Amino acid sequence: MESGMQKLVVVSNRLPAALKKDNGQWTVKAGSGGLITAMAPVLKNRGGVWIGWSGAADPAMDVDGLLADFSNEAGYELCTVPLTQDDVDGYYYGFSNEIIWPLFHDLQTRCRFYPEYWRAYLDVNFKFAEVVARKSDQDDYIWIQDYHLMHQAFFLKSMGVKRNIGFFLHIPFPPPDIFMKLPWRRKVLQALIDYDLVGFQTIQDRKNFVGCLQRIMPETRVDGCGSVVTVHTGNRHFRVGAFPISIDYNQFSDLAKQPNVVRKAFELKEALRHRKIILGVDRLDYTKGIPERIRSIQNLLRRYPDLKGRMNFVQIAVPSREEVDEYKDLRTEIEQLVGRVNGEFSMPGWVPVHYHYRSLSHEDLVAYYAAADIGLVTPLRDGMNLVAKEYCACNNSEDGVLVLSEFAGAAAQLQEHAYLVNPYDMDGVAKGLHRAFHWSKEVRSHHMVHLREQVRKNNIFWWVDSFLQAGIAKTLGDFPEIDTVHFEQV
Ligand code: UDP
Ligand code: G6P
Repeated sequence: MESGMQKLVVVSNRLPAALKKDNGQWTVKAGSGGLITAMAPVLKNRGGVWIGWSGAADPAMDVDGLLADFSNEAGYELCTVPLTQDDVDGYYYGFSNEIIWPLFHDLQTRCRFYPEYWRAYLDVNFKFAEVVARKSDQDDYIWIQDYHLMHQAFFLKSMGVKRNIGFFLHIPFPPPDIFMKLPWRRKVLQALIDYDLVGFQTIQDRKNFVGCLQRIMPETRVDGCGSVVTVHTGNRHFRVGAFPISIDYNQFSDLAKQPNVVRKAFELKEALRHRKIILGVDRLDYTKGIPERIRSIQNLLRRYPDLKGRMNFVQIAVPSREEVDEYKDLRTEIEQLVGRVNGEFSMPGWVPVHYHYRSLSHEDLVAYYAAADIGLVTPLRDGMNLVAKEYCACNNSEDGVLVLSEFAGAAAQLQEHAYLVNPYDMDGVAKGLHRAFHWSKEVRSHHMVHLREQVRKNNIFWWVDSFLQAGIAKTLGDFPEIDTVHFEQV
């Protein structure tokens, strides 16, 4: 890459490709999750550098060789931060997944506030910051993603490295009563106020953050209104905004129109004998409300026997954090529930719940979205939930229904035309599904047209431009296109 050219440097725990061990062999797999879906088109558009962890914890292995092809194809540079097994255990499994993830999703009873996790988190954040300092120039824009890396601005400053630096949190920010339980609450807030811009998914998350600041640093003042405000606390003056993340709408919608995907969608419908398809797609995670959703389907069939034999619920559960006991237990619980519901209702020629525990190719995923009559998105809590937006983008027939949890960040944007439900209310979800099942084509189209328009306009490029405008008064188009791609392990 030419030096002196301003570039976008994205930093996240995960790279878009992850190394995984399958039968003793390391293989490259596309990473899953909303962060990657959202950021990949941004870097593909301009080029730049993506810094992250490879998913492996073996400093001796040939990460370089394994990721080079992916990097060439992706069209941007990948740069990995090597981590040891102890780093991964303390910083990723520990602090990130056992403290911040449950706490910020309002599930405090799942937190394990072990002090050694905090120390590992700081050590790894320091390692990342050293790589960021080395891989970037003063003109570059450094964009830190998500809760694993909240201390990047803090460490760069303490190294005397000056950078334009923004932070975006992909998950919810909790209200003060929950955040105050974090033993390192002041240090985390002090680290976040070191950024020039801190971005959240919704106005509510932003309010929660400012509320926490005011609780811990009572001198905090807020200037302005609207989605981006300026916050003053002590000698720090920085911007805080709500930037609802999105998807590359055209990419999803166009793929759903391709003949091979249209054919796949038709084959799916045919295989299910053209019954109505209710679809759930999630990483297998306890925040996604999958057991509650299956119980709602059970409730639906108990309350509305007219639906027996006329619908199928298809749940795609993408393997995630499989090494963690809680995720293993959740998988068992889901499999038992699926068995129970199918045992209760199956008839010759009809099995109500189809459960797939695997990740799908992009084409297969889009075919499922296109085939589904109802998108059932019911997380207990979610930063945004891109599946909701992807379902709408792929519904080119404009006659699907989105049933959406009121606790997903996406509800703030889509509430008017999605059917909002409380995922804990299994009667309410069943009632919503039954209603959606009987909506006329006109009503379904009316709502879906509006939903699609909302996602089309506020797409991922709108999101990145809003963030960059707030951060450095630029848009993505202001960054020079970079076409020299290479891979580097630091
Ligand atoms: N997804 C995936 N592999 C699959 C199925 C889905 O990577 O087999 C993607 C899906 O397209 C979506 C993301 O995973 O972009 C899930 O994002 P979401 O915001 O819904 O939840 P997150 O996983 O980030 O919590
Ligand atoms: C969510 C988080 C991401 C994370 C993803 C997958 O989307 O916001 O930061 O990468 O889940 O989880 P994992 O732990 O596999 O990276």
